[in-house]
Amino acid sequence: MIPTMTETGKGQEITPSPDDVKLAVLGGTGPQGRGLARRLAMSGLSVQLGSRDQARAESAADAIGQGVRGGENAVAAAWCDVAVIAVPWAGHAALLDSLADELASKVVIDCVNPLGFDDRGPFVIDVPEGSATEQAAALLPRSRVVGAFHHVSAVLLLDPAVVDIDTDVLVVADDRPAGQLVQELAERINGVRGIYAGRLRNAHQIEALTANLIAINRRYKTHSGVRITNVEP
Ligand SMILES: NC(=O)c1ccc[n+]([C@@H]2O[C@H](COP(=O)([O-])OP(=O)(O)OC[C@H]3O[C@@H](n4cnc5c(N)ncnc54)[C@H](OP(=O)(O)O)[C@@H]3O)[C@@H](O)[C@H]2O)c1
Repeated sequence: MIPTMTETGKGQEITPSPDDVKLAVLGGTGPQGRGLARRLAMSGLSVQLGSRDQARAESAADAIGQGVRGGENAVAAAWCDVAVIAVPWAGHAALLDSLADELASKVVIDCVNPLGFDDRGPFVIDVPEGSATEQAAALLPRSRVVGAFHHVSAVLLLDPAVVDIDTDVLVVADDRPAGQLVQELAERINGVRGIYAGRLRNAHQIEALTANLIAINRRYKTHSGVRITNVEP
């Protein structure tokens, strides 16, 4: 597929073809980052894991195989054309603030769920910007921020016995070509369907729904996902 040039509010943006994406996963040494890196590298993408520590990134990348490489977050962010943010909520703002230059003009996929846990289980943390995804958009005004992969279980992504991941990936975006690219990237994971689910201002509900899914997982001892009915993209 040919890369497309689009006029956006940020200028003329080149949206890469999904086959040619160079994907960085920042905070990529955790289960979610490793799981997404593994599945997307298996689909043929060039993937680099980012970490605060180069040795940790290299060791996590070696454990995945599939040609995945490791580097410091800033190096991976500068190298990529699409970045997944997979750090805990507590580190979200500081990491993005520090990488605004490296991530300028790039598609940034935020999968961070601002959740807390207490003796009654998971709960949603109030975010002044509305959601983690909108916080990313505020901190990265020169990037093309998209929300996705909030509900995909890291356990399933990492399990070699799981061939198909039985879930839809809900994608929120203000930048239509960037959102379309992320839907297509999601569909490179076997079993997954990418569904456009509204603009960034609707990210809050998607992030918050993860608290319900975690409660479901705990009650039913499973790794639940979501499916939207009666949609044929
Ligand atoms: N786990 C899931 O099933 C799942 C599913 C959907 C979405 N998510 C979301 O994905 C994100 C990552 O989840 P996870 O379970 O993989 O998280 P995690 O293991 O707690 O953290 C991921 C990585 O982030 C880095 N990190 C930790 N604290 C940091 C900080 N203060 N600043 C910068 N980097 C920091 C660490 O890498 P280094 O020490 O190597 O830098 C760590 O390995 C979360 O926001 C979560 O809500 C998770």
